Amino acid sequence: MNRIYLNKKIVPENKALVSVLDRGFLYGDGVYETLRAYKGKLFRPERHWQRLDHSLKSIYMQIPWSHAELTRACEKTVRANPHQECLVRLTISRGVGKVGYDPASCKKPTLVIFSLPVRNDMPELWRKGVSVAVAKVRRNHPLTLNPAIKCSNCLNGILAKIESLKSGAFEGIFFNLDGSLAEGTISNVFLIKNGVLKTPALDCGLLDGVTRSLVIEAAHNLKVPVRQTKIRGSEIYAADELFLTSTTMEILGVVAADKKKIGGGTPGPISQKLHAEVRQIIQRELKLPESFSTFS
Ligand code: PDD
Repeated sequence: MNRIYLNKKIVPENKALVSVLDRGFLYGDGVYETLRAYKGKLFRPERHWQRLDHSLKSIYMQIPWSHAELTRACEKTVRANPHQECLVRLTISRGVGKVGYDPASCKKPTLVIFSLPVRNDMPELWRKGVSVAVAKVRRNHPLTLNPAIKCSNCLNGILAKIESLKSGAFEGIFFNLDGSLAEGTISNVFLIKNGVLKTPALDCGLLDGVTRSLVIEAAHNLKVPVRQTKIRGSEIYAADELFLTSTTMEILGVVAADKKKIGGGTPGPISQKLHAEVRQIIQRELKLPESFSTFS
């Protein structure tokens, strides 16, 4: 049974219980981060904590834990479970308080961390690529619930995910209310056209992905020109290459969008070079064996 970190204790999953009056449950009033551990070592936890700080500030919430304490709690969770290749999901809710939206009576945030093995078919997905579907539902406008906040209210993404599953696609892609590309339900989106790497600018309304920054860093290393810009729908279908990025997927090629073939119908050469560079960065930073860069 999975072992879970709950408010300072590691407990078995069936003992990891939170009050039904917790505002995370009642209102989605909380934030989260998903980190990746490779061979049990966390990748760039500090980068995740910077984003967590931004999310917390945006929802007017303070926590009593330092970055170092959060890192140690995640490491403890990883050590308490058998999987070394895992995602680490840290959730902080505003805790229990008087029922109603006013959070003033909430004195103790709830902290939950669990780890799960990464899906073992990733190498196959990287080789074959996946399909996406453009969702009818639009990404929240930044002046409503800003998608830059990694918050526990994920319904906007869940609705798009349900739509994409109905059409048989692996991932759903959001457009914003202005009609330009925003992001995937749990990923950022990149395309390559005529050798230029393009991704929606942050002000298109999206999460500032840790992997998004890593891919931009890899592109700089490889001297691939990068443009963070507005992307129209037609550009997706006309892309030479299209891919998704996230902590758990790294770089995942998209071979069809709304059932239309993208590029040659297989993950493209520049996407693959970027992925290899990303893996080398991870391998060097975490001092992993060199065989790590070969994707197996
Ligand atoms: N999802 N956009 C959204 C809406 C996301 O939920 C995620 C991450 C990303 C990619 O961000 P990063 O590269 O930092 O993982 C973009 C995580 C994996 C999750 O929901 O668990």
